[in-house]
Amino acid sequence: MLKLFICRICGEPHLAEEQPTDCQFCGAPKNFLGMAEDYSVLWGVELTEQEKTDMKATLDLEVNATAYYTDISKSNEKYSKYNRMFKQLARIEKEHAEVAAKFLDVPLPEFIGEKSKGSIKADLEKTKELETHATVLYKQFLANATSGKVKIFYTALVHAENGHREIAEAELE
Ligand SMILES: [Fe+2]
Ligand SMILES: [Fe+2]
Repeated sequence: MLKLFICRICGEPHLAEEQPTDCQFCGAPKNFLGMAEDYSVLWGVELTEQEKTDMKATLDLEVNATAYYTDISKSNEKYSKYNRMFKQLARIEKEHAEVAAKFLDVPLPEFIGEKSKGSIKADLEKTKELETHATVLYKQFLANATSGKVKIFYTALVHAENGHREIAEAELE
């Protein structure tokens, strides 16, 4: 029978028979996908000055990644492998941007950022670079965080961005 799971990170619902592995919306790992009855929102906490600075940097990074991956997706033939892959990556980064904006209690900015480099190889190289950078940065933000909820957010982001680095690397091989 289908059960309702809600992602603790992005708040998106999943109808599934079993607990899904990664969140299809934000890429959070399995342990953050709980039963609907146990769900409460992650954001709405007072941020320290350091957490605010880090969260603003997170929002900027996720907005750029969303814009960039959307452009790569559109630069590849519709329904082709890379069109689909980057469409999904863009969705996930947009979800991250939305959560960061909720933590900051600011409206979501316009999604403006980098453009496709013109070849899939160059875009995969750039993706690998961006995702490696994001993983390193979010590990630092996780270490800087004092709020339990902010720590939960960056734990999930490190997992998601590291997974994106891995998929870009695998495509380059
Ligand atoms: Fe999620
Ligand atoms: Fe990513």
